[in-house]
Amino acid sequence: MDVELIIDDVPVTAAAGASLLDVARCAGRDVPALCHHEAVPAIASCRLCLIEVRRPGRDWVQLTTSCDYPVSAGLVVVTNSPRIRKHRGMNLELLLRRAPDAPVLRQLATQFGVTRARFAPVTDAPLPDCILCELCVRVCCALDYNALAATGRGHDKRVGPPFGRTAAKDCVGCGSCVEACPTACIPMADTATTRTIWGRTFELLTCVRCGRPITTKAHAAAMAAGADLPVKSTDLCEVCKARLTSERLASPRR
Ligand code: SF4
Ligand code: SF4
Ligand code: FES
Repeated sequence: MDVELIIDDVPVTAAAGASLLDVARCAGRDVPALCHHEAVPAIASCRLCLIEVRRPGRDWVQLTTSCDYPVSAGLVVVTNSPRIRKHRGMNLELLLRRAPDAPVLRQLATQFGVTRARFAPVTDAPLPDCILCELCVRVCCALDYNALAATGRGHDKRVGPPFGRTAAKDCVGCGSCVEACPTACIPMADTATTRTIWGRTFELLTCVRCGRPITTKAHAAAMAAGADLPVKSTDLCEVCKARLTSERLASPRR
């Protein structure tokens, strides 16, 4: 069901229950968000996507995170105000404490005019630039590999292989956590034939037509098993699959 709301004085129509962050961004609003990924449930950990919301029938304005706020009829939303910028700046300072050199945070600090560092930086983080958003854990879990976990609390919180292991035993080397990581801090090293990530080294599967690496053999096997397909069905890269389709469509024998 569609509902009407107001975002920054502009009437907007959106699906009821959609995330206010997604709706605001679709409406062209620039709302910073580091721990959000549309494929996994929100946990609202970075606190950068703050907005102001007034619900119908209420005369007070709530400052809240937008990634986990479901859209409903009659909301009046503001995505940028002195109050929002003040709190975003404070939350950014807290993130900078964990990852003072992360380029994405430095860029946001410039955007929000955060010049001071009131909080002493954490210097012994096992994964420099990690903001503990858990996107890697949540994405891996959504893919059903469950190779990572968040452990500890406060200063001792960590993400990585569970139970303090040095290698992620259930990892298949798909690289989805690397793609999802907002600060690009997960080390993944590819050679022509191997991929090393989370303490494991995997053999790469290469395209039978062009020789480009496609993914790891472990990932291809896991995908084929999940779809009940022979592993051979994944032995062409996306470019060669598209070319093969075009060739077949253009063939006079079709
Ligand atoms: S590379 Fe490993 S840890 Fe990362 S999402 Fe894939 S299976 Fe999970
Ligand atoms: S490694 Fe990246 S995705 Fe995982 S918690 Fe840290 S910042 Fe988030
Ligand atoms: S994106 Fe909403 S709290 Fe991080």
